[in-house]
Amino acid sequence: MKTINNFNFSGKRVLIRVDFNVPLNEQFNVTDRTRIHAALPTLKKILNEGGSIVLMSHLGRPKDGPADKYSLKHIVKTVSEELGQPVKFAGDCISEEAYQLSSALKTGEVLLLENLRFYKEEEKGDETFAQKLSRHGNFYINDAFGTAHRAHASTTIVAKFFNNEHKCLGYVMAGEVSSINKVLNNAEKPFTAIIGGAKVSDKILIIEQLMNKANNIIIGGGMAFTFVKAMGGQIGKSLCEEERLDTARDLLQKAKNKGVNIYIPTDAVIADNFSNDANKKNSAINSIPDGWMGLDIGPETSKKYDEVIRSSKTILWNGPMGVFEMSSFEQGTKAAADSIAAATKTGAYSLIGGGDSVAAINKYNMAAEVSYVSTGGGALLEYIENGSLPGVKAIED
Ligand code: 3PG
Ligand code: MG
Repeated sequence: MKTINNFNFSGKRVLIRVDFNVPLNEQFNVTDRTRIHAALPTLKKILNEGGSIVLMSHLGRPKDGPADKYSLKHIVKTVSEELGQPVKFAGDCISEEAYQLSSALKTGEVLLLENLRFYKEEEKGDETFAQKLSRHGNFYINDAFGTAHRAHASTTIVAKFFNNEHKCLGYVMAGEVSSINKVLNNAEKPFTAIIGGAKVSDKILIIEQLMNKANNIIIGGGMAFTFVKAMGGQIGKSLCEEERLDTARDLLQKAKNKGVNIYIPTDAVIADNFSNDANKKNSAINSIPDGWMGLDIGPETSKKYDEVIRSSKTILWNGPMGVFEMSSFEQGTKAAADSIAAATKTGAYSLIGGGDSVAAINKYNMAAEVSYVSTGGGALLEYIENGSLPGVKAIED
């Protein structure tokens, strides 16, 4: 893997694709700086060695050209704060003004370009657009792990315009890739994958892949109810993908054939409606009364999962166990985080990925208690599903 460690950036103007697709609140303040913070080691190495930097990113999914709501101008203050120096801003990524600003950069200076997705050419992977972007620097770094599953102009095509001595992966990419490889290819056993979230359909491929690697697969979150129903349980009005019942049965059978232990919750916290102050009680997960829905795994399940997690040497967590955003239904997710932290403390390697599980880890201030917190959601899943990502391959090819 060719990384930033193989290069010196003295006198270079480095064009870096970062993933600064961060959440903003109604006042356009950044509410989670994780992705910006994660980029600092890459930026600091270049600045310390005497280079200058042009940053490019997308923000959100603008549909029709420029929109104030999706302007990266909103994050300039946060990037400057994190970096500890002012960051310049170009109000368009390929305008004359943008080129003037990038070509005038002095050693140690940083410029952020406006949202790449204001041009539809970005998502189309347009070559001419990519070539225009490439003019901003004489060296290209891809450090946008969160977007590395997208074959867009700035993440893959632009790499064509730099030769092998002038492009590499940054520290975020390198860290993410080696962390996934550690889990998928060098896992100390037992390896336990904890998969949650709302839908089975989102997680079929990853569960199938993980069956080739993991000893234990723990299921939680809304998708658990599709499995329970597929096994003949009564799930009341819990979330269920009726059209995926066969898929769920199929996954259970495959796990059995491969000798992988797949754990489905045995009890749930159920509620009479989807609200934090709904009436709630514990129930066996396969006999939820009509009119009630499961919103979290129950205490018996958490206890069982705790045993499995604590006896694991490698842990991958993607997807919450319940509706952890509501305090009434966060116990299962919090318990899983605690179990993972405990296992990590006694030597297990733990990788947490996917927007919601990362949000949970942050909610409980536990990022320092696990081995690695990924900046990718979809990217992490696709890496596991396919064994590579377009944004990584573009640099390696
Ligand atoms: C993300 O947050 O998922 C990445 O930044 C990619 O964004 P996208 O899903 O809109 O391509
Ligand atoms: Mg996404």
